[in-house]
Amino acid sequence: MIDVLLGLQWGDEGKGKIVDYLADNYDLICRFQGGPNAGHTIVIGGKKHVLHTIPSGIFRPTVINVIGNGVVIDPIVLAKELAMLAENEITADKILIARKAHLILPTHRYLDAASEAAKGKAKIGSTLRGIGPTYMDKTGRNGLRVGDLESADFMQRYAALKEKHLSLAKIYPNIDFDLEKEEQEWFDSLEVIKKLQFIDSSYYLSEALKAGKKILAEGAQGSMLDIDYGTYPYVTSSNTITAGVCTGLGVPPQSIGKVYGISKSYCTRVGSGPFPTELDNELGEELRQLGAEFGATTGRPRRTGWIDLAQLKYTIMLNGVDHLCITKMDCLNTFESIELGIGYTEKGQLTDRLPYNLEADLSPQYQTLQGWNQDINSIRDYNEMPTEVKDYISFLENYLGVPVTMLSTGPEREALIIKD
Ligand code: GDP
Ligand code: IMO
Ligand code: MG
Repeated sequence: MIDVLLGLQWGDEGKGKIVDYLADNYDLICRFQGGPNAGHTIVIGGKKHVLHTIPSGIFRPTVINVIGNGVVIDPIVLAKELAMLAENEITADKILIARKAHLILPTHRYLDAASEAAKGKAKIGSTLRGIGPTYMDKTGRNGLRVGDLESADFMQRYAALKEKHLSLAKIYPNIDFDLEKEEQEWFDSLEVIKKLQFIDSSYYLSEALKAGKKILAEGAQGSMLDIDYGTYPYVTSSNTITAGVCTGLGVPPQSIGKVYGISKSYCTRVGSGPFPTELDNELGEELRQLGAEFGATTGRPRRTGWIDLAQLKYTIMLNGVDHLCITKMDCLNTFESIELGIGYTEKGQLTDRLPYNLEADLSPQYQTLQGWNQDINSIRDYNEMPTEVKDYISFLENYLGVPVTMLSTGPEREALIIKD
């Protein structure tokens, strides 16, 4: 079976840390969607590593890491990640790339930036990594794939796509972009990528499943950024939910096993779009500082707010979550009381359903729980947790109807509690 781990909010829930922890129990870790818009942080022995394309199993010596066909790959970013890993004495022999994964061209990034510039105030707040334009070329049937690197006419196809992008860009405002320099770096990086092992991922994974290998699919972004079910149009361009695993890896639905959903003990969002429980005030700033909420990919300050249980109920439903993991519990250590969003009042009615229009004038309703108001960072046994932590977790479990089986209390690999 292929277990799945994904974010239930707007990304940055701590997926990298939890995948790295769980990877010890798996043979393969597979990314199935997204691209270098992701930034997955892993802290081992006090050293911080950020991964954008490579799965978070790479720090476990025996684990194979698959970059699936649903991922979009920027060779420049991938080559930099490989260099970072080499500095940490990690080689690339445990990395496999699906031939059907699409390539992000320099002109995709150019189009991303130009399109955002044209949107003005309505901008999405994209990471500007070329994600949208690359998936557009995929669905538009124009894209270049990793497997095309092996074909004789790659250069002609590259040149044709680049020209098409440059004509398209004429509808957008001019922006600064040194295409010649970017292309040079892209082609240099391609030489690095070409040395990696390319696979036909559906055959490869089918055989791995038959051989009884334990596989974990690692989500990127969060369910609220899903192209179909997120806060459209303020979303990314892929299916970030469990359903994306089948198309993003080429595996049948019967092969999906347990689904781990991750949420912070509060909520964050980076980029534009609705965020009903946002705290756009001093308290929000306090949460940002306590949680060090600055993007792992772009360094942008993340918007912060209280945990939104109605929102979580929705993404648990979409993903078929079996187990919940609550991260950043330690970031609430200093609060006398903690608020939890339990629905919205819309036209005088309380509802726990997310309305079609999340930009409508929604008033979130809150349950207040007593804070634990003490340092819980070094506790490793759930039974030793303060009563207030247990009450908070019970409240989540009762409202959401799913057990919390992991609690994270710090960025380090070891700061994790497994709860039965
Ligand atoms: P991802 O995109 O879901 O992998 O998450 P990011 O790496 O973008 O952001 C999560 C941030 O929180 C990183 O800086 C992690 O090191 C950090 N982190 C993860 N879990 C915890 C936790 O339990 N407590 C604290 N304080 N930080 C955490
Ligand atoms: P991880 O995997 C948080 C957000 C961007 C923007 C929107 C669209 O680290 O959780 P895009 O670059 O995809 O066109 O941006 O999605 N976004 C993320 N926010 N974490 C991420 O990934 C994100 N990837 C994209 O900020 O609002
Ligand atoms: Mg991140």
